[in-house]
Amino acid sequence: MGKVHVLDHPLIQHKLTFIRDVNTGTKEFRELVDEVAALMAFEITRNLQLQEVTVETPVGPAQSYTLAGKKLGLVPILRAGLGMVDGILDLIPAAKVGHVGLYRDPETLQPVEYYVKLPSDVEEREFIVIDPMLATGGSAAEAINSIKKRGATNIKLMCLIAAPEGVEVVQEAHPDVEIYLGALDQKLNEKGYIVPGLGDAGDRLFGTK
Ligand code: PRP
Ligand code: URA
Repeated sequence: MGKVHVLDHPLIQHKLTFIRDVNTGTKEFRELVDEVAALMAFEITRNLQLQEVTVETPVGPAQSYTLAGKKLGLVPILRAGLGMVDGILDLIPAAKVGHVGLYRDPETLQPVEYYVKLPSDVEEREFIVIDPMLATGGSAAEAINSIKKRGATNIKLMCLIAAPEGVEVVQEAHPDVEIYLGALDQKLNEKGYIVPGLGDAGDRLFGTK
């Protein structure tokens, strides 16, 4: 079973409070989502591989480290996942960015895929699938299916807020995928919204209704 990590860093928790707030407007919402995404990425990338290198300082040679291997792959689930990309790229500017386009059918709540584009060398890359919301889990499970089908084997999932139902669905479908959350909320309501959640992440990010 893939582990679930709730990232309880005080800065993440503080900023999440304002993201949840119904009175937070689009501009501030966007900024906060980017900031929390960066803070979460900082925690999630703790175990990235390093290689030893020699660097010349003004004083002489130093043994130091750089990141090893293929560049990290970020895969935002469109549309709301886009809101987390820039924050992570501020931290890891060399990361490659793929996209999986999915929307949730409002009647059935089932994910419908409309776009997939991934970086090259999928098999050798570590991927972080990103989406603010893990509700029924259908979108995340399908996005992970989609990138596994194309050869990815090393995948993490990062979401701002999840419902227990969604965590269970992803764990069942993808026991190899560790899940990183800012918060694990109470439940889903009858419309498949996370309670208390933050509302519709895509609409709040892009100012749509
Ligand atoms: C939202 C959210 C997730 C999905 C979560 O996207 O960004 O992708 O719902 O729900 P699930 O876990 O029940 O699948 P939405 O379908 O509203 O599309 P959008 O990002 O284009 O607004
Ligand atoms: N998608 C959202 O944007 N919010 C939810 O609460 C559930 C799915």
